[in-house]
Amino acid sequence: MRIYRVLYRQARALMEQRLDYYSQFNPSPLSMQQFTDFGENATNRDSFLFLRKELPVRLANIMKEFHLLPEKLLHMPSVCDVRDLYRMSFIDLLEFEDGSCSNSSILDKFTDTLLKIRNRHKDVVMTMAQGVIELKDAHSINANTEANIQYFLDRFYMNRISIRMLINQHTILFGDGVHAQNHIGCIDPHCDVVRVIEDAYANARFLCDQYYLASPELVIKYHNEKDKATKTIKEAGAPGDKTPASVVYVPSHLYHMLFELFKNSMRAVVEHYGTSTDVFPPVEVLLVMGHEDLTIKLSDLGGGIPRSQMDLLFNYMYSTAPQPAVSGLDTPPLAGYGYGLPLSRLYARYFHGDLMLTSCEGYGTDAIIFLKALSSEANELLPVYNKTCQRQYSTPVQTHDWSSQSHSAMFIRPFSTNSRNKHNQGKNSLSG
Ligand SMILES: Nc1ncnc2c1ncn2[C@@H]1O[C@H](COP(=O)(O)OP(=O)(O)OP(=O)(O)O)[C@@H](O)[C@H]1O
Ligand SMILES: [Mg+2]
Repeated sequence: MRIYRVLYRQARALMEQRLDYYSQFNPSPLSMQQFTDFGENATNRDSFLFLRKELPVRLANIMKEFHLLPEKLLHMPSVCDVRDLYRMSFIDLLEFEDGSCSNSSILDKFTDTLLKIRNRHKDVVMTMAQGVIELKDAHSINANTEANIQYFLDRFYMNRISIRMLINQHTILFGDGVHAQNHIGCIDPHCDVVRVIEDAYANARFLCDQYYLASPELVIKYHNEKDKATKTIKEAGAPGDKTPASVVYVPSHLYHMLFELFKNSMRAVVEHYGTSTDVFPPVEVLLVMGHEDLTIKLSDLGGGIPRSQMDLLFNYMYSTAPQPAVSGLDTPPLAGYGYGLPLSRLYARYFHGDLMLTSCEGYGTDAIIFLKALSSEANELLPVYNKTCQRQYSTPVQTHDWSSQSHSAMFIRPFSTNSRNKHNQGKNSLSG
């Protein structure tokens, strides 16, 4: 027994030492164009050589950030589970740190390891959310802790999106899995935006119909700035036209955002008008292909959102829907976890896009997704563990220097991305 304890301690010390090592390096963000070029030209071996460094770097950057979280949160059972998963995956990757890759069995083993890691982490979003609920149930939380958790979750989930993207690219390109036709890994170089809009709408509508036995129609308008043409490509209740609106993108990411926004709009419209009517104003989508941005605006007449709530919308677990039952559901709920908007915004920001909401209370809401139209400009946005981020956790939230009606949202730390470069001196990228 004693020998096991000694071995465990040694393994743990080695892991901490490698964590320190890899966390010194910045992750290497890739652009969408680099992803597609790499996918078309790189070999299994090239990808292995890149990922065996880049994945430990990305994991180490976020694992170090765990240390900055409030002690109380770190002791919550679900948070301990998540940390254990990350440690296991980090250790699994260390096995490939050195050594040659001339042997194809090493490459196969690496691909299998990535599949195992992806599978192991599949429920992490919900487990981490559970950890925060455990904390809230057990302790009262002050504004500082609240702000730190929000700041951490944005970075943690973004890191997870990026790691899954790298794993998916490698395993789809070089594993035995199913390959979607004309895709490069999980990227569609000609992602048909209207089709994704229609798919997301149809699936959100299915849920809305199940829940309320009614749902609003969809109208899509398309404007292409290059040929200055605007046209309606889908009228309420009619099938859509074919249209050449395409972008280099990950269809599953775009689908995720649109599905969440449609669910929100449909719920708002049906609740605002009441289920006694079956005539609802449609959800209107305006798709604009600009020179720099591709913009998708969803407008609903669902009664809008009061201005006092606007700052809370992107907080994890902010929801005005009743909390859904945990099990026993045949279909997922239409709303209630309060993760729809914050996670969708992360997907939009991941390739330097964005997601915003504006609303006229008493009338309706516009939700806007911005994507980079050019794949060379769509770079990954990744959290970096450095002095700036360490300072964020230790800086108390600001008190007001204007007289104001205080509400908790004023204490939430902004999602800041622009200070990254100032404090990265001495930290290099390991790969790339
Ligand atoms: N189009 C909209 N009109 C009115 N209120 C909205 C709209 N979109 C979002 N909201 C408000 O924002 C809240 C948060 O939305 P979010 O999608 O993050 O969580 P949710 O829909 O409650 O749960 P879920 O995680 O299942 O999506 C909603 O509960 C709702 O009160
Ligand atoms: Mg929602």
